[in-house]
Amino acid sequence: MKFIVNGSGGVTTELVFQGQVDITDCRQYANDKVDFQGKLGEVFFFPSLSGEGHLLIGLGQAENLGYDQLREAFFSAGRELDKYRLPEVEIELTVFTGLSNGKVIEAVAEGLLQSSYRFDKYKTEKKASPELTVNLTFPTEEVSVINDGISRAEKLIAGIFLARDLVNEPSCVIYPETLALKAKEALEPLGIKVTVYEEDEIREIGLHAFLNVSLGSAKRPRLIVMEYKGDPDSAECTGVVGKGLTYDAGGYSLKPSDSMRTMYSDMGGAGTVIGMMLVLGKMKVKANVTGVIAACENLISGGAYKPGDVIRSLSGKTIEIDNTDAEGRLTLADAVYYASKHLNCDRVIDLATLTGACLIALGEEYSAAITNNAAFLAGVKAAAEAAGERVWELPNDKDFAKRNESKIADIKNSGGRLGGTISAGQFIEAFLYDDKPWVHLDIAGTAFIDKPQHYLPAGATGIHVKTLVNLFS
Ligand code: BES
Ligand code: MN
Ligand code: ZN
Repeated sequence: MKFIVNGSGGVTTELVFQGQVDITDCRQYANDKVDFQGKLGEVFFFPSLSGEGHLLIGLGQAENLGYDQLREAFFSAGRELDKYRLPEVEIELTVFTGLSNGKVIEAVAEGLLQSSYRFDKYKTEKKASPELTVNLTFPTEEVSVINDGISRAEKLIAGIFLARDLVNEPSCVIYPETLALKAKEALEPLGIKVTVYEEDEIREIGLHAFLNVSLGSAKRPRLIVMEYKGDPDSAECTGVVGKGLTYDAGGYSLKPSDSMRTMYSDMGGAGTVIGMMLVLGKMKVKANVTGVIAACENLISGGAYKPGDVIRSLSGKTIEIDNTDAEGRLTLADAVYYASKHLNCDRVIDLATLTGACLIALGEEYSAAITNNAAFLAGVKAAAEAAGERVWELPNDKDFAKRNESKIADIKNSGGRLGGTISAGQFIEAFLYDDKPWVHLDIAGTAFIDKPQHYLPAGATGIHVKTLVNLFS
C-alpha cells in the first residue's frame, strides 16, 4: 500500500455517520438497494461507467467516533477495495470534534494498512491483489502533519505484521534458533543490540528452570536479549519479557491433540516483544527498553523433565514440577529474574500466552492483567486504551498464591484450575528481584484468535505491540 499526500485519482469516497445519511443521488441508491445506514464498518461500493466508482464508508454514530472506530471503518474500506481489486482510492479527511487531526490520520492509515495483512506464503497460488494507492488529503492540515501520521502508522504496522508473521509460522520454521536469527535480522539494522545466548551460556548463567523446560526437545533453547537505548541521558530502563515457547506439546503432562494443534503460537509474547522493539527503533522513541525472550520447545523425550521433579531456578528458589504443561511460568520465572536482577531493569512487564483459564475468563477479547504496582498498571491500561487493545485487571489477592505452595520445594509450578490465571501470574511475581514494579499480561486469548475481530485477522494478532509503543512514547 502506498500513500500519496494531496494526490488524486481512483475510487472516490464519502464518510457517512449513522443517522445522518443525507440523501443524495448515490446514497439514495444505496439506501434503496441495500439499506446502507452508515453503521460502523459498513461499506457500499458503486461501480460507475464514467469514473472509477464511489465508496461509502460508514463511521457509526457520530458521538461514538474515536480512533478505534476510524481504524475499523477504514479497515472495512480497504477490504472492500481489495474485494473488487481496485488499485487506487481518494480519501478526504476533515476535522472530527474532540479528536486530534494527527491521530485521526494515523488511525485512518493504520486501518487501511490493517486490511492488507496476509499470511499466504505457503499457498502456491496466491490471491492476486493490486497494490493500493491511497490519495490522502486533509485540506486544513499541514502536509508535514499528514506525513507524520502516515509514517507513524506504517512503522506500527511493520511491528504488528512482524509479530504476526513470527507467531503464524509453524514450529518447523520458527524454533529458538531461527527466532533469534529473525530478531537479529529485524533489529540490528536499527542499532538495537541483540545478544543471543546458547545452551552452555544459559547453564552458566544459571537459568535452570528455563533449561528444564527445554530438555525434551532436539531443538536447543536460546536466550534472546534485545537492548534499545533511545534515551541515553537516562539510566532508567524497562524490561519487557515475552513468553517464547515455539511449541508447547505439554511435555509428559501431554496436551490432547485438539489443544496441541495451534501450539506453535505459544510465543505470542515473544512476537509482540520483537515487533515492539522494531517499532521503537523505527520511531526512535525516547526510552530505554530491554526485551528478553527465553525461547524453547516443550516436548517429550527420554531427557525431558517430568511431573514430580524438583528443579532449581536462577533466583535460587526450588520448584516442584506439578505439571509439565505449566511450562511458560518456569521460563518466565528465570527471564523475569534475569531482567530485574542481572539486566538491572527498573520495572518489568511480561506478556505470555500463559493459561487456558484466561480464555475461559475473558475470551479472545480481553487480555488479563495482574500487577504489584497500581500506578504502573494504570499507565499500561491507558496505553492499551489508546491502542484499542483491551486489558482487564484480575485481583492480585495473596489467597490465590497459596495454591502455589509446595510440600517439598519453595514453590510449585501449578496452582490447579481454579483462578488459574491469577496463581500463574503470582508464580511469576515470586521471581521478581527486589519486588520491582511489575505488570503481567496473560494474552492466551488475544494473541492468536479463532475468528477475526474488527480489524484483527484470525490467527496471530500482534496484540499489544501498540500498547507497548504507546507506553514508551
Ligand atoms: N500455552 C498454554 C496456555 C494456552 C492455552 C495458551 C490455550 C493459548 C491457548 C500453557 O502453557 C498451558 O498449557 N497452561 C496450562 C496450565 C495448567 C497445566 C496449570 C493450562 O492452562 O491448561
Ligand atoms: Mn503448557
Ligand atoms: Zn504454554
